Amino acid sequence: MATTELLSSEQIISLAKKHLIGNYTRYPVCLVRGSNSWVWDAEGNRYLDLFPGWGCGLLGHCPPRVVQAVQEQVAALIHVPNTWYTEPQALLAQAIGERTDFGGMSFFCNSGTEANEAAIKLARLNGRPKGKYKIITLTGSFHGRTYGALTATAQPKYHAGVEPMLPGFNYAAFGDLDGIAKAIDGETCAIMFEPIQGEGGVNVPPAGFVEGVRALCDQHGLLMILDEVQTGMGRTGKWFAHQHWNVKPDIVTLAKALAGGVAMGGMVAKPEVADKLKPGTHAATFGGNPLAARAALATIETIEQEGLLDRAIQIGERFRTRFLELKEKCPLVTDVRAKGAMIGVELNIEGAAVVQGCLEKGLLVNCTHQTVLRLLPALTLSDEQLEDGCDIIADVLLGLRP
Ligand SMILES: Cc1ncc(COP(=O)(O)O)c(C=O)c1O
Repeated sequence: MATTELLSSEQIISLAKKHLIGNYTRYPVCLVRGSNSWVWDAEGNRYLDLFPGWGCGLLGHCPPRVVQAVQEQVAALIHVPNTWYTEPQALLAQAIGERTDFGGMSFFCNSGTEANEAAIKLARLNGRPKGKYKIITLTGSFHGRTYGALTATAQPKYHAGVEPMLPGFNYAAFGDLDGIAKAIDGETCAIMFEPIQGEGGVNVPPAGFVEGVRALCDQHGLLMILDEVQTGMGRTGKWFAHQHWNVKPDIVTLAKALAGGVAMGGMVAKPEVADKLKPGTHAATFGGNPLAARAALATIETIEQEGLLDRAIQIGERFRTRFLELKEKCPLVTDVRAKGAMIGVELNIEGAAVVQGCLEKGLLVNCTHQTVLRLLPALTLSDEQLEDGCDIIADVLLGLRP
């Protein structure tokens, strides 16, 4: 059978269209290779990627320490089930626990939605003895595509056509503490939210909101679940975004950047909360396999040794400055939101044309919520790449008519 390297982009795309289920909107580009913030297509065209791996490429494409760790591990042991112990998994749980402020204990899985399913089950297991099972989530959220996480996702467009959703979820508005307080009843066991909403448009919460939710949880005996699938692992300049507000959640979920681009999810919980997950209550066959765990350890080591938490802050500040300057010149830009290397540029037009315009100039960016340009650049992005990327976005936006 031919390898993809022998096929042109056109041939690959036509094969994919014939044999893959069409559940994704794809651009007609076929990527074959990546290094840091660069990717190349089958014809050797190079693109600057400011959205590497949909947020998974926190260290860019093929980060050297991750590549080396995976190469070593793949030859030693790829996968064993959780009936056995492995060193990479134990070391990873230790490394994550040490970086939380609450002595977090870990359960590993393979994706963000799975991490959130685990959190929903753990919250219910904790609430059950008191007759509590309901979870409050927030409008504009995105928690994943499996039924629990999808029901938690308080956006009707994602539920359309696949109802009925799971019982036991109530929705309140993001940023509205009074609304959340009103949604709490005697059967509520948890409040679950993203500290900064990603897919919802890079929505940074109003001052006092995250601390306010913690206070409500304390007052009513609820668990605070933070979905840090997109914000976690240094993306915002702290290991976990909630550390910007000095709150201690009860459960945190992780995925995306956790293993430097290798598929992995995780749920981290306070020991007294984690305790309710007993043998038989939850599991994941591939969860915490040595390959992904080694990749995650190499990711943490890279972030630490290269000072990338500080770099995330610098990157965010520079993008913010550039886009605020652009806002002065370009009436299409209405708002700029950033926390570390998580950047949103709100437009008053649909962003699809901007994404297409950037692609034509060799730049990969994302648009979410129809009108928000979203960048989740690698923390290893160089100053020059950052400026070049901003120049292209500015060119494209200034070339469009309001
Ligand atoms: C905040 C958040 N939670 C959960 C998910 C779902 O993650 P996955 O696609 O790995 O299941 C995403 C994905 O974009 C996300 O941004």
